[in-house]
Amino acid sequence: MKVHGQEYRSIWLDPKEEGLVHLINQNRLPWSFEIADLRSPGDALEAIRSMMVRGAPLIGATGALGMYLAATTAKNQKDPEAFLNDWAYRLSTARPTAINLARSVNHVFNKIRLGQSGEVSLLAKKEAELIIEEEVDACRKIGEYGLPLIRECAEKKDGKTVNILTHCNAGWLACIDYGTALAPVYLAHDAGLPVHVWVDETRPRNQGARLTAWELGQHGIPHTVITDNAGGTLMQKGQVDMVLVGSDRTTLDGYVVNKIGTYLKALAAYDNHVPFYVAIPLSSFDLNTTTNPLLLPIEEPDPEEVRMIEGWHDGEIKQVQLFPENSPALNPAFDITPPEFVTALITEKGICMPVIEETIRLFKE
Ligand code: MRU
Repeated sequence: MKVHGQEYRSIWLDPKEEGLVHLINQNRLPWSFEIADLRSPGDALEAIRSMMVRGAPLIGATGALGMYLAATTAKNQKDPEAFLNDWAYRLSTARPTAINLARSVNHVFNKIRLGQSGEVSLLAKKEAELIIEEEVDACRKIGEYGLPLIRECAEKKDGKTVNILTHCNAGWLACIDYGTALAPVYLAHDAGLPVHVWVDETRPRNQGARLTAWELGQHGIPHTVITDNAGGTLMQKGQVDMVLVGSDRTTLDGYVVNKIGTYLKALAAYDNHVPFYVAIPLSSFDLNTTTNPLLLPIEEPDPEEVRMIEGWHDGEIKQVQLFPENSPALNPAFDITPPEFVTALITEKGICMPVIEETIRLFKE
């Protein structure tokens, strides 16, 4: 996607220098557009942990590239296999909720374990690149499958603006290119359909207000940032035509894990007969059919994220405290929306109901 008229992805390999990866530092957006470099698996780990990169497909890609960076130095280690094993563990567990991370890291690790010693880094690079291209392709197709839903809505409204509510950032920043939830929105806008996006601010880290608003603005898509609590009243007033969100992990029987607050939007949508769509690549499905949704791993980052808020003041990014020093805070980062509140899943293989018979069919196709 374009930033200031130039084509970017959220992460990419340096075309000339081996062992060098570039990424957009999302912790500086929207105020400063900065590119950061990764030269070691430790850099990749830090980028994931500090949320310089975030969003399920992107942290999967960063983990895979982290394994590539580990592979470039493995042969200089006393015990290369133990070194790779250690990095596979550290990278794959850096953030537990989005299933793409462990899946991508383990995929690259398993491939290089089977490879011959001399070609380990080449193999790791090839596998990481494959993962990246597959994610980009999946997002583009999610956009193509999602577009008719917006078109139908626009037709029903006689060409009046289609109002779409989204939560967190499930755009191209989170996904290398195109996005999951935002991919159909980009295609609809490019096709000349009138779209407007209600952007949930997404406390505590404000991925909606900071990243989604920035992305949409770069592409010239009309949008309005709202507080996380505003969606319900907008739905009651008929000002939301559909909700479109992404997911960090969805079970085959349709339990959708996504950024905290998604569940409340699904409840409000259900009560107001507003369609609630989840855009998700197959790489974000949890294939464990026996998963008890209550046992799905939900990250609980530092409660300081709740106590403090970050913003732009006097030309600098600053943090201010929001409530009394002694008041405790709790910070569950994701929630689980049960399938009965999900209208449909939009995947790169098509649209399906959130039921096991249909999700399994997607994998068989
Ligand atoms: O904590 P984050 O910012 O990594 O959370 C990201 C989300 O919750 C996105 O909605 C998710 O990854 C969906 S797809 C890009």
